Amino acid sequence: MTTHQQPVALANINGEITPLSEAKIPALDRGFLFGDAVYEVMWVNQGKMWLEEEHFIRLERSLNLIRIQGVDLSSLAAKVYETITAGKFKNAIVYIQITRGAAPRSHAFPKDIKPFEFLFVQEFNDPYAEMREKGIHLLSRPDIRWEHCDIKSTNLLANVLAIQDSKEAGCQEVLFYLKDGTITESAHSSLFGVLDGILYTSPSSDLILPGITRNHLLNLIAKDGIAIREKSLQMEQLGQISELFITGTTSGVLPVVAVDKKNIGEGKPGPITRRIEKAYWDSVKTWSQNAHHNEDSTRI
Ligand code: PDD
Repeated sequence: MTTHQQPVALANINGEITPLSEAKIPALDRGFLFGDAVYEVMWVNQGKMWLEEEHFIRLERSLNLIRIQGVDLSSLAAKVYETITAGKFKNAIVYIQITRGAAPRSHAFPKDIKPFEFLFVQEFNDPYAEMREKGIHLLSRPDIRWEHCDIKSTNLLANVLAIQDSKEAGCQEVLFYLKDGTITESAHSSLFGVLDGILYTSPSSDLILPGITRNHLLNLIAKDGIAIREKSLQMEQLGQISELFITGTTSGVLPVVAVDKKNIGEGKPGPITRRIEKAYWDSVKTWSQNAHHNEDSTRI
């Protein structure tokens, strides 16, 4: 037995908190039957949700785009905090999934259906420490997802299959490309690359998920004076790309050192990547200091 016991992962279903291992989902739930659902993943640092507002805005947008109505997002946020408090979580991951609800199986939306609100909070054991140091390898895979990748839908089969291929090839993530060679993003991360000293990332469109970390970095990069273009890179440019990195809520900023076993640049994390990584962690630090400062001042 270790000295530090991890808090038990907790689920919150329509407001009721239970251990995650005991949470039950109705068999006729449309998220289960049709993937008729959207989700969010958030990082909790020192008990507070990082970029909370941005995640809830994206959740609202996903709900609107698939026409799920009747979810009260401020009471949902309150349920997340009740669950964080119940488990005394400090460094954790929050997963929220809203489905259209349960009803006899029929493709069209059932009448008067109530959305099913499921969330869980679990301790975050950062698996990325070594990858941050050394960088990761990507496997390129055709992007066979649908044309609404901007919706954070739970239909992740194309992502799952691509990630499995990358794992079996000894890689840690995927580089998705379209039939015409346009690079879109990764299977569960946004993607940035440096070409001729300019940083590129795919423009916001229905071909990528508007990553919260991506958007946060775009703001930081603008302040830092790094030249950035929201324009997709092409597969044929891979040989000239000097740096690549992926970003995401749980990974932060992760340098990419090779794609399909071919080095990117010198095959080690590059200077622009490191600069952006530093700016990212500095912003987390400033936020967490402010969050706690504000807490102290409300207590006074
Ligand atoms: N993945 N692109 C895709 C396809 C994603 O699934 C994700 C997030 C991102 C990065 O988005 P953000 O910075 O908002 O986390 C980009 C989540 C974490 C997941 O599916 O687990």
